[in-house]
Amino acid sequence: MKTIGLALLALGSSLGVSHGQTACANLRPPTIPGATILRTEAREVLNYHTGGFEAAANGCVINTWLTHGNSGDEVLVRIWLPLQGRHEWNGYLNGIGGARFSAGECTERVSFAEATPANLARLGYASVCTDAGVGHIQPGNTITWAHNQQLLRNFAYLSVHEMTVIAKAIANDYFGRPPSHSFFFGVGRGGQQGYIAAERYPKDFDGILADGAYVDYARTGMASFWPYLVQHDRGFVDRCSLNAIAEAAIRQCGGFESPDCPGFDAQSLANTVYMCPGGRRVTITAYDASVWTSLHEGPFGNGSYGTHHAIIDSEWATEPPNRSFFTSQYITDFLLNDPDYDYSNIDQDQYMTLWEQSVAEWTAIWGTNTDLAAFRARGGKFWAIHNRGDDIVPVSVAVDHLERLRDVFSQAELNDFYRLTIRPQAYHRGYWYWDFEPRGDLASLINWVVSGTAPSV
Ligand SMILES: *[C@@H]1O[C@H](CO)[C@@H](O)[C@H](O)[C@H]1NC(C)=O
Ligand SMILES: *[C@@H]1O[C@H](CO)[C@@H](O)[C@H](O)[C@H]1NC(C)=O
Repeated sequence: MKTIGLALLALGSSLGVSHGQTACANLRPPTIPGATILRTEAREVLNYHTGGFEAAANGCVINTWLTHGNSGDEVLVRIWLPLQGRHEWNGYLNGIGGARFSAGECTERVSFAEATPANLARLGYASVCTDAGVGHIQPGNTITWAHNQQLLRNFAYLSVHEMTVIAKAIANDYFGRPPSHSFFFGVGRGGQQGYIAAERYPKDFDGILADGAYVDYARTGMASFWPYLVQHDRGFVDRCSLNAIAEAAIRQCGGFESPDCPGFDAQSLANTVYMCPGGRRVTITAYDASVWTSLHEGPFGNGSYGTHHAIIDSEWATEPPNRSFFTSQYITDFLLNDPDYDYSNIDQDQYMTLWEQSVAEWTAIWGTNTDLAAFRARGGKFWAIHNRGDDIVPVSVAVDHLERLRDVFSQAELNDFYRLTIRPQAYHRGYWYWDFEPRGDLASLINWVVSGTAPSV
């Protein structure tokens, strides 16, 4: 026993662990009020190759599982720390957000998803993510937690907070000092998590990057079903036709910079032939044009929750939603508590009733509000980014949210801590490890927090 102990000690010191710090394998989470730690695995991961990079990542990886009261939930918190002696820690912690109905994109055991925290470790960042106890995204998964109050709380806000408390304490134990600054980034669902973290736990993060955020999911979740509703009874329109009309609108209106396109009439393109990528020809029909207009104008016919220029890359606009299992799932699993519900019978009236139900019952769980005063007061910086042509989360939700913030904060106050950058680009954005090279958005956020220079793009 003694020999083994000495060998471990020697290994520890060769990797740069000094007095008062804890070796990777011995790291344990702190006590979390209201939660019980079930188990923890901590290990050194050497020469982890992140796809596309020659350089290997070396990390101290800590997986910990916790539960709350008698609820039976099992929440995974995964932390990657730059391995001492191999990578120098820059003092920063990053929380990584989720997507769709996943709480954290680094929890899936596929190499690409692992690439983000591993690459962050290679670049000197500590990072943390969680599965909120709801597991990975898969068809049929959400009904298992849609009506479990603990899992809903975990998913909507609690797990991101708890993972952050744990990661800060573990980084302190490992490096002998706490993070100098903590950040959070996410896209779509991850962006929503960023807003809710700033509202509910303003001390957790110094800077938050929310891209294509599901602001006010009680409404935007309903809006995701709109493309299906307008097409399912009369047929799904060829994506190429929709994009042909979108291209014409963009040309006529001076590109993606233009917020609106008054005077553009999709019907004027009816019966024209368009050459799709790959050489296929489509004839745009009057029906295609009417669907494009409905997607553009949204469920209220006034642009709210409509897809700007209605550019389409997502299967949920052009396929029955059982293919993408995300669009209908909110309605069947969360609102109706019936995963077998035949959503193809939902008509406009029922849709509007469901919309009201969603707002009444679910805003308290995953709505976003304007309670950012405490986040501003602690010096937090919030950067919202939205692609004008986001085909999944309409850009109008980000603009509406900024309008509501303007009712609460003066422009000078907003300049202090909040930016909405609308980029003249199409499609919903995904973050991958290459976004975190020194010149990426994360670097701009860090620069804003650390040196006070707000991002200019
Ligand atoms: C569109 O109509 C809805 C429902 O009446 C309303 O809540 C929303 O504020 C309107 N949006 C705009 C941009 O006028
Ligand atoms: C989706 O639903 C359609 C009918 O709306 C059905 O024909 C198709 O087989 C379903 N696909 C899957 C993957 O369940």
